[in-house]
Amino acid sequence: MKKPPANQSAQWSSKWAFILAATGAAVGLGNIWRFPYLMGNHGGSGFLFLYLLFLCLLGLPILTAELLIGREARTNAIDAMSQLAVRHQRSRHWRVVSLLGAVALLLILSFYSVVSGWSIAYLYHALSVGFHGQGPSQIQQTWQQLIASPGQLLIWHSVFMLLTIGVILLGVQKGLERATKIMMPALYIILTLLVFIAIHIGQLKPALHYLFDFHRDNITMHTAASALGQAFFTLAVGAGAMLTYGAYAPKDVPIPFSVGVIAVLGVIVALLAGLAIFPLVFQFHLTAQAGPSLMFITLPTAFAHIPGGNLVAALFFLLLLFAAWTSSINLAEPLVYALIDKCRLSRTVAAWVVGLAAWALGIGSLLSFNLWQHLTFFNHTLFELNANIATNVILPVGGLGYALFAGWVLPKRVTQQQVRSAVYPFWRFVTRYIVPIGILYVLFYGMLSK
Ligand code: PHE
Repeated sequence: MKKPPANQSAQWSSKWAFILAATGAAVGLGNIWRFPYLMGNHGGSGFLFLYLLFLCLLGLPILTAELLIGREARTNAIDAMSQLAVRHQRSRHWRVVSLLGAVALLLILSFYSVVSGWSIAYLYHALSVGFHGQGPSQIQQTWQQLIASPGQLLIWHSVFMLLTIGVILLGVQKGLERATKIMMPALYIILTLLVFIAIHIGQLKPALHYLFDFHRDNITMHTAASALGQAFFTLAVGAGAMLTYGAYAPKDVPIPFSVGVIAVLGVIVALLAGLAIFPLVFQFHLTAQAGPSLMFITLPTAFAHIPGGNLVAALFFLLLLFAAWTSSINLAEPLVYALIDKCRLSRTVAAWVVGLAAWALGIGSLLSFNLWQHLTFFNHTLFELNANIATNVILPVGGLGYALFAGWVLPKRVTQQQVRSAVYPFWRFVTRYIVPIGILYVLFYGMLSK
């Protein structure tokens, strides 16, 4: 007889609770912080075009695959594929994909927490010193001071990790669900408000050209490889994170519909973030290629110019924190669930083990902005290396694994019954043929182009 899962109580209370939590997982720093700066680094619209293309063509089918594998297996992300494989007389070595995913989750959580720590630092700054009336050089200085101080970064990184562990400790319904129900709607409102502010004081026209003009030469393989990673990162696919949320999903959750909602909201938030940032970049002659600091310099510049700027700043960083929080929960929960299920640990112990491991790893990322700034491998700091390998390599490879498994290993009747929609034949075709070819092509040529 199959042993009952140790985490049996874990189940979303309703269809909408699941959709909200999955959207919370998808929408995060990837959409608000990472998307605008990657777009700036890659010269604008070409990146946006490739991002949307990969999101729709490759990301959505994989998200569907992960959710259905999770709901079919109803177990932790590490065992899900191997258990299903054995059930259908296939090799249990599919577990390799799951293990790779676990590594990605830990790596991403480690740097995610460092960056989320910045948003807490800025929240604190907005409430204490404030940005109002500050000139661009002062705003630059605030950023430089934060980033140069390992002590400060460590404090904020630790605070964020504690917040993440805190929600995980409360469990699925009391922690994860309740957190997302409050945080997500608030995020959409404040982001829209910021777009209005940016349009009012910034230059919308050049921003729109920058975001949407099509230039053929903007599209390179190097840009494609980043756009692919970014598409997977924002959808939270390729590492078993969504698989875990799928395992908690009630039977009546319509998978294709949920996937659609998650994608549309994710894209809207990314575009709103772009529209909140680029009009200011052009207005204040800031550099679009600023990298990770982009948002932390452009937005405070706007906050400095508007009445009530400190309040708006505090609200924004609070919501950025919420967005990051609901995603970091999704990064940690699969690892916690796996430890509970496999090692029979209590939720409390498992949450602390995962939190401490990611926290310790995060210290490497945090130091790469100051003490270890010059410690580079192939011209990349530890932070960049960690983020790039996890995002641009492991997530696509993991995504490929989930697509192959759902498309070729699981019997048609199983996937059909999980997807239960008119889009099923289309999904199956894309998952079996287009996704593998697309991912391999971009990975291969993307690597050659570096
Ligand atoms: N989707 C999250 C974001 O955009 C990051 C994430 C990646 C979360 C992978 C879970 C798994 O910020």
